[in-house]
Amino acid sequence: MSRPHRGDATLPSFLVTFIFLQLLPAGNGKSDFCVLGPPDPLLALVGQDKELPCKLSPNISAEGMELRWYRDQPSPAVHVHKDGEDVYEEQMEDYRGRTTFVGSHMVRGEVAVRIRNVTVSDNGTYHCVFKEHTSHSQATLWLKVAGLGSSPRIHVTGTQDKSIRAECTSSGWFPEPKVEWLDLRGEPVPAETHFSASASTGLFAVVSTVTPQDRAVEGLTCSISNPLLPEKKVAETYLPAALFRRPPSTERGPALPLILTALGLVTAAIACAFGRSHKEDKSEEEEAETGTSAEAEPSHASLSLDPETGSPKLMVSEDRKSVKRLLFDQDLSPSSKRFDQDPCILAQERFDAGRHYWEVEVGGRRAWILGVCLESLGREGRIPKSPQHGLWALEFYKKKLQALSYPRTRLSPPQPLWRVGIFLDFEAGEISFHNAADGSQIYVFSGLSFSGPLQPFFCLWTHDPRPLTICSVVREAEEDTESSGGPDLPGDSR
Ligand SMILES: *[C@@H]1O[C@H](CO)[C@@H](O)[C@H](O)[C@H]1NC(C)=O
Ligand SMILES: *[C@@H]1O[C@H](CO)[C@@H](O)[C@H](O)[C@H]1NC(C)=O
Ligand SMILES: *[C@@H]1O[C@H](CO)[C@@H](O)[C@H](O)[C@H]1NC(C)=O
Repeated sequence: MSRPHRGDATLPSFLVTFIFLQLLPAGNGKSDFCVLGPPDPLLALVGQDKELPCKLSPNISAEGMELRWYRDQPSPAVHVHKDGEDVYEEQMEDYRGRTTFVGSHMVRGEVAVRIRNVTVSDNGTYHCVFKEHTSHSQATLWLKVAGLGSSPRIHVTGTQDKSIRAECTSSGWFPEPKVEWLDLRGEPVPAETHFSASASTGLFAVVSTVTPQDRAVEGLTCSISNPLLPEKKVAETYLPAALFRRPPSTERGPALPLILTALGLVTAAIACAFGRSHKEDKSEEEEAETGTSAEAEPSHASLSLDPETGSPKLMVSEDRKSVKRLLFDQDLSPSSKRFDQDPCILAQERFDAGRHYWEVEVGGRRAWILGVCLESLGREGRIPKSPQHGLWALEFYKKKLQALSYPRTRLSPPQPLWRVGIFLDFEAGEISFHNAADGSQIYVFSGLSFSGPLQPFFCLWTHDPRPLTICSVVREAEEDTESSGGPDLPGDSR
């Protein structure tokens, strides 16, 4: 890192001037004053404007004084204001055309100089000196310049030996930022990071690479932060399936048996994982053929997400059972069916009669909306989320659960929700939400009448990489012991 050090060559002259100023007889009894600057360093973002304020104590008028802001030496200065006018003859090249004197509170001794379009070379120490006749006093100010860089981009490549290499790049940082890679479980991934400073702007560019050895890594986030600023810039990538393929026949976890007593369902196994769609079709058929229980049994809706309705902020899995939030909008063909602003999506299924039940795994996701909407719900801009507009839903946001009723209803289920069951009874005009772990009801919208077909509705607020996943129902008779389920306990939601 090579930063221009303006003062080095002229240090002796600076000292001489400084000593000269110190030796001036201070205060001839007429107007004894002292100059104060901000006690703490000022923070300015690259490209912004920043004022460097100084004031007199006591708060006498600064009119008629010579006011000078300078860096290493009093001349040339950052800005000089003398006899009520700005004086540019003594101004440093770097500040030409970039400074404005702010004198609206001059009568009470408060003045400032505004620097426009702050750059990296403005970082450092400043002095302001006030001079009247033979009296003078000065204060020191510190300006910390911070550059918040561009959103990082991740580029993934496969190598010959089948390992993966991901490279994260970003520029526009000052000072050197902190770079951190995490996998989707939040575990740090070791990385090799290089910084380079731009010769013209002094801003840092970052190139950081990882080659994860762990084959279980399904995705990565690269997050870059400035030590002076609270925000982080984050990019996320899902590793290509072709390079990190799981064995296709592997069942990811056992099926989850569940007794939905509240709904009067027979024992069913519900799996929220990928790769079960082939099984699911078969079980649907079986269900239709056997037709075990009477008319009371609602149909297990086997939903598929409709990517054509999905916001460009969302990515739907190949089997259309799962949806994730992206950090960048995808380039997608425009469609009047698509949510163009809210990160929402619908399922393909339309219900205009009957009773339907489905479950969605929300897992540890920090924010979501699940529910049912009229097919005619608007898709453009921010969607009004309430029953008057044809949406009946639950929202989890900032650790709070609420029904999107009008007015809103705060809910506090006894246990955190891992999987949510949604039950629609079209004829009865009822939509209820359940904790799928035990079937207990969380909220019900009732006494409804629907003006048209309904569709399952999902939104994924916040940049949380965890997906929402529709659970497939794998029917399983109670006496069926040879099935993959094993001795899982009902209610064990993980
Ligand atoms: C300046 O000082 C006077 C008293 O000398 C006081 O009345 C006034 O409020 C002060 N103004 C400010 C802005 O501090
Ligand atoms: C701000 O400064 C940068 C770098 O010196 C320059 O490229 C840019 O044009 C300036 N912007 C404005 C608005 O003056
Ligand atoms: C920027 O200025 C601050 C305050 O004067 C100083 O502490 C810091 O070391 C400077 N940073 C760089 C990179 O020069």
